Amino acid sequence: MSFENAVLFPDGAAINDDGHLVLGGCDAIELASEFGTPLYVFDEPTLRGICRSFVREFADRYPNSRVLYASKAFISPALARLVHEEGLGLDVVSGGELAVAAAVDFPPEDIYFHGNNKSAGELEYALDYGIGRIVVDNFHELRLLNDIGGRRRLVQKILLRVSPGVDPHTHVHTTTGTLDSKFGFSIESGDAAEAVRRAVGAPSLDLIGIHSHLGSPIFELEPFAIGIDTVLTLAADMVKEGLKLEEFSPGGGFAIGYTRDRLPPEVGAYAEVITSTLKARCADLGIAGPKLLIEPGRAVAGRPGVALYTVGAIKDIPGVRKYVSLDGGMGDNIRPALYDARYEAVAAGKMTDGPAETVTLAGKYCESGDVLVRDIRLPVLEPGDLIAIPASGAYAPAMASNYNSNPRPAIVMVGNGNARLIRRRETYEDLMLCDILEDGRPGQQGS
Ligand code: LLP
Repeated sequence: MSFENAVLFPDGAAINDDGHLVLGGCDAIELASEFGTPLYVFDEPTLRGICRSFVREFADRYPNSRVLYASKAFISPALARLVHEEGLGLDVVSGGELAVAAAVDFPPEDIYFHGNNKSAGELEYALDYGIGRIVVDNFHELRLLNDIGGRRRLVQKILLRVSPGVDPHTHVHTTTGTLDSKFGFSIESGDAAEAVRRAVGAPSLDLIGIHSHLGSPIFELEPFAIGIDTVLTLAADMVKEGLKLEEFSPGGGFAIGYTRDRLPPEVGAYAEVITSTLKARCADLGIAGPKLLIEPGRAVAGRPGVALYTVGAIKDIPGVRKYVSLDGGMGDNIRPALYDARYEAVAAGKMTDGPAETVTLAGKYCESGDVLVRDIRLPVLEPGDLIAIPASGAYAPAMASNYNSNPRPAIVMVGNGNARLIRRRETYEDLMLCDILEDGRPGQQGS
């Protein structure tokens, strides 16, 4: 049986005869009892299907294209292996993300290293790994990488990240391509042109392309067209100054549905605007069409991931609000507190019960702002009930913290009725792994 919010859930999400939510052929109630809560459930067929649709929708329109998964949305060895199997490359933004990729021998030439403040150590690590491309963000990094490359007597292929000054109409904290941004060389200020000149003249750098990223999530198509137009106009000018535009990336930022009242364009619609703008502008400007790189993160990992929580305390303040507290919260999903992000939720064991009351789903963290979903209509809930929040795969586990010394959740991968743990739940011992007392490590005094 399908249900109202099914569009926000992984493919095949359904209701079984017991009225329970089914994910990847597994009863959510059974998943919770086997693995505990809070639990993040990723649906493997949906993940693979989305990877394939990105590859197909872009390659059908523009064969010389490559999809790079933006691993900041969520990465683990299992996920890195999966996206590699699906033919995607990887965008990493730290030595840590690179280490996860390295743990599964992700081909170095398929990895692009982003970030506005890569350390010398991170750059050295990337070069040790033989990384394909470094996306240089600023003049400091341009010098640093050229120096490191010089010392190593190598020439590193780079892209420059430019900031096109386009507002993608998303949350200010996730807007990156405007003038007032810490990211990239601004086109408007002249820095981008200057960066191209310096990179072309840098003996240990081989500038082969231009990158930009507007922000995230972008529900409109037009910002992509304007952004590409602006960046290609700059690139065409700079070709005269020695820029080889072999690769071009308009970044990521593709939206997903968090709530039913705001659904994103199809992948094909994003692909259409990006590839048609690219083709048309290259023709106008008289430049050869470069390899197109796109970097979806949220749109790959978001919808396949569902968060499961158990209801605990319920506090009814008559005429004011009914708080239903869950066993997770801002420690595993900071997005509502940080961006006012809105989510839907369902009672995973009461899928056939109609909505009966308006409640607020609060977390267990010692912060009043720790609310996952405000004012949502749900069946009558009792302690022990299971809540499922869809569209939780991207930027929730990835941004999880140990606030209040809560262990971070376990993650399972489901599909075809099977479930396998891809990350175990943290233990209290894990929380103290890095801590040191004068007489030894906690729990290991004297050893
Ligand atoms: N490429 C670059 C250079 C980026 O900076 C980002 C995201 C992406 C690709 C992937 O964007 P996506 O396709 O996932 O939208 N924590 C925020 C999102 C921050 C995005 C940062 N950069 C959130 O939870 O909404």
